[in-house]
Amino acid sequence: MKGADYAIECEGLTKKFGEFKAVDSINLKIKKGELFGFLGPNGAGKTTTIKMLTTLLTPNAGEAKVAGFDLKGEPEFVRSRIGVVPQEFALFGELTATENLWYIGKLFGMSDAGLKKRGEELLKIVGLYEHRNLPSEGYSGGMKQRLSVAAGLLHTPEIVFMDEPTTGLDPQSRIALRELTKKLNESGITIVYTTHDMEEADKLCERIAIMDKGKIIAEGTPEELKHKYGGMHKIELELGRHEGKVLSELKELVGAKEMKMDGKVIELSVPSVHGDVLHRTSNFFARKRVEVKEMRTREPSLEDVFINLTKKDARG
Ligand SMILES: Nc1ncnc2c1ncn2[C@@H]1O[C@H](COP(=O)(O)OP(=O)(O)O)[C@@H](O)[C@H]1O
Ligand SMILES: [Mg+2]
Repeated sequence: MKGADYAIECEGLTKKFGEFKAVDSINLKIKKGELFGFLGPNGAGKTTTIKMLTTLLTPNAGEAKVAGFDLKGEPEFVRSRIGVVPQEFALFGELTATENLWYIGKLFGMSDAGLKKRGEELLKIVGLYEHRNLPSEGYSGGMKQRLSVAAGLLHTPEIVFMDEPTTGLDPQSRIALRELTKKLNESGITIVYTTHDMEEADKLCERIAIMDKGKIIAEGTPEELKHKYGGMHKIELELGRHEGKVLSELKELVGAKEMKMDGKVIELSVPSVHGDVLHRTSNFFARKRVEVKEMRTREPSLEDVFINLTKKDARG
């Protein structure tokens, strides 16, 4: 049966290595056309999940449909509809960009004419057309990764899986690859993207599943996740002088639930930052004749979400 609305549906998907559950019974629905992210620290189970969904690893339990086809029963149909950009490059260094695509296209059984046309089109899309006749071993990390994306797109897949494509790239290449990912998604391709970079997931992905220790611990749009699990907004202040009495009045005034001192910085936790709270705070200190050296607000980030969900540092 072909599922109409979902690119991917899975239930109870599990992968064990010996007794260790690398992926522990995950349930998920990814809509067609979505740019969906798996976000989690190293070892969370992202790559193992991607490998199962792309038929490279057999699940120990669970069901999944990918592009409307049953993962177990119709793996060859699944493979024909998906493209994969793996975490490790799988290119031939001594071959040029054109030759690499040619080689991969031949593995897919593409015709010479079809391959030439599609190859050139893709090399333009990923910005490698000018470099197409140079051996790929001389490319920068970003160029290699873009060639890897082109390889994943060769047979015009409906869904592309990209496993930590920006890891190890310099900031410029990372930005270029994110732009390319957005462009591909806007052209109608469903993208499943993994990253351990919280800010990247926040910027790039429409919806995110946060993974930790083989489980999906939360799912939603970045906004929903921050709203639900991000905790308090912060107001941070640096003042000319500190007086306990003035500070407790301020706490009352802005409706802070908590006030902390971190070195010279005073941090107030408020349920939300209203338009006039900063204005009221400045007026308050002006009346008290206390100099405000610095005042800023901080919204919850996905890092806060992760910390709150796991109660440990995201990078620890
Ligand atoms: N082939 C394997 N054999 C044994 N353990 C594995 C294998 N592949 C992955 N693992 C373990 O499974 C867990 C999840 O790995 P992985 O899916 O690669 O995580 P991520 O991609 O999120 O960093 C890790 O603890 C990893 O060491
Ligand atoms: Mg991985």
